[in-house]
Amino acid sequence: MVSRPAAHRITGVPRSAPLIPTVRSLPAAGCALLALAVTACGGGVHGTPGGSGVRDPYFPKAGNSGYDVSHYALDLDYDPEARHLAGTAEITARAGQDLSAFDLDLEGMDVEGVTVEGERARWSRNGQELVIRPHDDLDEGETFRITVRYCGTPRTLTDPDGSKEGWLPGAGGALALGEPTGSMAWFPGNHHPSDKASYDISVTVPEKLQVVSNGELADRSTHGGRTTFHWRTAEPMAGYLATLAIGDYAIRRSTIPGAAGGGLPVLTAVAPSQAAPARKVLARLPEIMEWAEYNFGPYPFSSTGVIVADEGTSDYALETQNRPVFPGAPSTDLLVHELAHQWFGNSVTPKSWRDMWLNEGFATYAEWLWEEDNGGDSAQETFDALYDHGEDDHEDLWAFPPAEPSSAAHISDSPVYERGAMVLHKIRQAVGDDAFYDIVQGWTAAHRHGNADTDDFTAYVEKKAPDEDFTSIWRDWLYGDGKPDRP
Ligand code: TRP
Ligand code: ZN
Repeated sequence: MVSRPAAHRITGVPRSAPLIPTVRSLPAAGCALLALAVTACGGGVHGTPGGSGVRDPYFPKAGNSGYDVSHYALDLDYDPEARHLAGTAEITARAGQDLSAFDLDLEGMDVEGVTVEGERARWSRNGQELVIRPHDDLDEGETFRITVRYCGTPRTLTDPDGSKEGWLPGAGGALALGEPTGSMAWFPGNHHPSDKASYDISVTVPEKLQVVSNGELADRSTHGGRTTFHWRTAEPMAGYLATLAIGDYAIRRSTIPGAAGGGLPVLTAVAPSQAAPARKVLARLPEIMEWAEYNFGPYPFSSTGVIVADEGTSDYALETQNRPVFPGAPSTDLLVHELAHQWFGNSVTPKSWRDMWLNEGFATYAEWLWEEDNGGDSAQETFDALYDHGEDDHEDLWAFPPAEPSSAAHISDSPVYERGAMVLHKIRQAVGDDAFYDIVQGWTAAHRHGNADTDDFTAYVEKKAPDEDFTSIWRDWLYGDGKPDRP
């Protein structure tokens, strides 16, 4: 089971979006006292405000325009008992225009103070938009540093499809999951997949707990009963792939000799309750990574692994960068799916949430290929079964075309997953295996660590197979309404 249960929609998540932006100058209740009233006014005025979104067709408020983030340095402190998070986000960005003001996305939390280039900045909140007015306007092309001090109890957000993301507190710890917009619950940022950045994430917790995040552990130190874990992600990462797992985890390190040009570091973090059920499937991780590299091209990141949380911590798995998160021991197919996302989604990231099928279609097709290569059904058999009676398991399989989900509530439905995989299988049928694997590996190489959309994909396929006519595949399978005629 890979696609998420199209959950029980839950209403009543506190969103508390004031309609009128309020300029706050006093610390909000519950957080440490600080800060004087902000009265400074701008210096040279020549810029205009950046936009409060990047015109994503499904999540119009996600991300912001006018700048591009290159690095996040998060310095966080978490008290699991009080569910209190306090921290500083230091964000390095480059102005894409002369800027008088710009937004970050942050849902909930109390902001204590903001500086831009070391100078105190005015700020206000408007729903998920943290609107920042720097003391001096920023020049187009200028690299600048923003610091946001904030604290509070991070929220669990409810997605348009009813599932939970953001901050998920659990027994003695917490799990942060960010697809599509949950990362704004625990740090301010440009939370849209089109703006990728490197990360340093430091988290201080009570000594008995572990903190696992993306990338590699750069440092760990304990003072006065509290431990700070510093995780570093050097390769570009979309904000929705950032994670934190805080709790009682058993950490294991190893290397895969044959992957990533030799000696790929592996770090697995497994909740004690899942150690026994996860043992067998995790033993296959090296084999899956080597198989995936052989088929999809070189692994794009500098470490791999998994986070296996307690069952019920979340009701879906997520392909968080370097090490996907599973709510309980995964099946082999689910492990294959989330690891395949490291190529499809994490390295080659969608330009907008409309392009989700490039993530989920590929990750689903990876499962079909794994089955085919490991004594299960061939991808053709999987395709045929879906075509003939896919509605038995996936009621909505033909509800909309993969490249155009019907709304934000449906970006994780089976037309994006299963029918997306069917599109890839149609391409394979048309070009044959050799050309197909060339296309797949060429695609991951061409957009490695970048962003791509459906047009980029169809243009790439056409370029690589100039003698084929893909018109009907695109028209009927990728963009067409309803069930395509029998192939
Ligand atoms: N990407 C996850 C997977 O298939 C599923 C998922 C989690 C998801 N959250 C989502 C899909 C939000 C779309 C939107 O492994
Ligand atoms: Zn997926």
